[in-house]
Amino acid sequence: MQMTDQHVYIRTFGCQMNAYDSRRIAGLLQPLRYRCVESEDDADLIVINTCAIRAKAEQKVYSYLGRLARLKKQRPGLVIAVGGCVAQQEGRRILSRAPYVDLVFGTHAVGRLADLLVRVRRDQKPLVDVALSNGLPDDCRPSGNGGVSEVSRFVTIMQGCDNFCAYCVVPYVRGREASRHPEAIMAETKALVAQGAREVVLLGQNVNSYGQKEKLCTFAELLARVNQIDGLERIRFTTSHPKDLSDDLIRAFATVDKLCPHIHLPVQSGADPVLARMNRRYTHRQYMERIDRLRQACPHIAVSTDFIVGFPGESDADFDQTLELIATVGFTSVFAFVYSDRPQAPAAGFGDKVDETVKGRRLERLLALQEGITRGHHQRLVGSVQDLLVEDIHQSGPLSRPQWSGRTPTNIIVHFPPAVPDEDLKGRVMAVTIRQAFAHCLRGELPSATDTALDAKGVCHAA
Ligand code: 5AD
Ligand code: SF4
Repeated sequence: MQMTDQHVYIRTFGCQMNAYDSRRIAGLLQPLRYRCVESEDDADLIVINTCAIRAKAEQKVYSYLGRLARLKKQRPGLVIAVGGCVAQQEGRRILSRAPYVDLVFGTHAVGRLADLLVRVRRDQKPLVDVALSNGLPDDCRPSGNGGVSEVSRFVTIMQGCDNFCAYCVVPYVRGREASRHPEAIMAETKALVAQGAREVVLLGQNVNSYGQKEKLCTFAELLARVNQIDGLERIRFTTSHPKDLSDDLIRAFATVDKLCPHIHLPVQSGADPVLARMNRRYTHRQYMERIDRLRQACPHIAVSTDFIVGFPGESDADFDQTLELIATVGFTSVFAFVYSDRPQAPAAGFGDKVDETVKGRRLERLLALQEGITRGHHQRLVGSVQDLLVEDIHQSGPLSRPQWSGRTPTNIIVHFPPAVPDEDLKGRVMAVTIRQAFAHCLRGELPSATDTALDAKGVCHAA
């Protein structure tokens, strides 16, 4: 063990799963006396947590690595470690593109990181550990997180994926699906609440199939258990596969009172032939049926989604089906990506690739359609009162007033000014009147008595 504190800079690319892993990494490095710093310039160790989901994400990693070459030249003692999905996918190849990297550690090697770093320092030569295990990659212990108190925290409930969507690299770089034991999830969530968390976001590539393989319990049962944790105000989860969205889980939106009325339900395309080639195992109609059932259980539920445009073989008529689905569902928000080949995923070998300019045009049309729908959702909230879980306070310029920010139950960010200077609202649920709508957020203020009231499930009651 080192005697003096060392400094680690952790750079995270990609998804919430990676953000969670980065926190774990920070926790795992604490016993080695590594303190997190905000800049590469102050670091003895740089850990890069990478994402390989789309070609662009991978390119960003390599361009960042390129920038670190100069730093390593100036300070040869600096240790550079590359983890996450690109590390898993590329392994030793990372060393040929960036020979100044000291350690490549895969998605199942996070738990071994402290050990690997000791070996790198001792042996003074690059090390690669990209072994994939069966089942849970490591014990996923709560990381400790340096006692940082934040309001909304991630808890990984499962890792890997068994779905093998034709475009997706995840099953190859994260391995087979494996669920954590409910007791471990409960213990971690309680520990986070004790540190100040008021909301947890349960994470998995497909939480709907949680516990099925291991016969632990269903995801709906897990939600009911987490719901009982004292001091926890809100539960969210991501992400769901439409084919596994069970009636049990749909009912949870009506029965689990801390579960927020929002679901992220990636659809990817509105065209049946495309969905079939993607190996998604549901049709446009089946997706719509699930939306109907969700709305029966929870009438004001917000639904967000992901789309891939320009999947191999996607015709103009297919794309029109996607636009039609968007117009019918009325998503509150959408993430849309142009299709990119991932070397290990089967679609990389599909013929009939869509031209890049066609993909770009389709993406623009999709986003323009959705922008109007999102604005409409936001506009309709003006004048209503929303229960916000207050997360943070920001000051954008030296002359501007500080603004609190929080989220509605349906996951929309709202900014509002403090009523009383210096009052700490972090972690409190505040009723705020919405005054202005923007493309990505809302602005509000503490309410007057005549405003309309909305309850926590987003149901409107006349005041
Ligand atoms: N190309 C483009 N988008 C992709 N996604 C996953 N793989 C690819 C790919 N090869 C998108 C999907 C998924 C989201 C996380 O990333 O929409 O839901
Ligand atoms: Fe990838 Fe499909 Fe698994 Fe999601 S469900 S991680 S898109 S293979």
